[in-house]
Amino acid sequence: MNFYVMTLFPDMITNGLNTSITGRAIEKGLLSVEAVDIRDFSTNKHMKVDDYPYGGGAGMVMQAPPVCAAFDSIVQRSGHRPRVVYMTPQGHTFTQKMAHEFAKEDDLVILCGHYEGIDERALEAIVTDYVSIGDYVLTGGELPAMVVIDTISRLVPGVLNNSESAETESFENGLLEYPQYTRPVEFNGMRVPDVLLSGHHGKVEEWRYQKSLERTKKFRPDMYEAYIKESAKDNEK
Ligand code: ADE
Repeated sequence: MNFYVMTLFPDMITNGLNTSITGRAIEKGLLSVEAVDIRDFSTNKHMKVDDYPYGGGAGMVMQAPPVCAAFDSIVQRSGHRPRVVYMTPQGHTFTQKMAHEFAKEDDLVILCGHYEGIDERALEAIVTDYVSIGDYVLTGGELPAMVVIDTISRLVPGVLNNSESAETESFENGLLEYPQYTRPVEFNGMRVPDVLLSGHHGKVEEWRYQKSLERTKKFRPDMYEAYIKESAKDNEK
């Protein structure tokens, strides 16, 4: 899968994603991440890409021409018009379900805004999806873009190895993940639950399921209600 990140801070993207699991996947050729510097497409002699907002008000607005020219260069290289995700606190809140949906694309463009945002005409011309990572405001779209790319990447076949498998994770089955333990068996007077040492696979599964339910009810009552409703529906079938 190929990501194209349109940004004014390309180093942030490359430095952030060229390490750890995404870095390994890039090296293996399973992913590519190209940071496209919007400033390279400025036609201004000072390479300016922002200007004052019409109508007044605080801050600067990113201009439409360099943003659209940067996108055109991606269209030329990829040979088609890929989906364009604009990172904005005004978008739909990002979910695991959306990550699965985006993971079906071969090419995905992520547009990062800065300052007071981007000229609406550029957004109307190129953006297909408006996505927020939560109800808080960051200084720019680069960290949100990395969050989205990291989440999608681990769903791309081959990116995770067996021991990192994505299937039993929180959100994949509508519940939060159960607690995990490793050696030593006793730490600061606290023992690993006996059932996990029993070797009884069925009992371990049941214990984990109960812990998942407990945890979800406590920390995410909204998810818990939805899960119980869904299970009741399934039982009626
Ligand atoms: N840019 C600034 N804040 C953001 C957020 N919460 N989500 C996505 N993009 C953003």
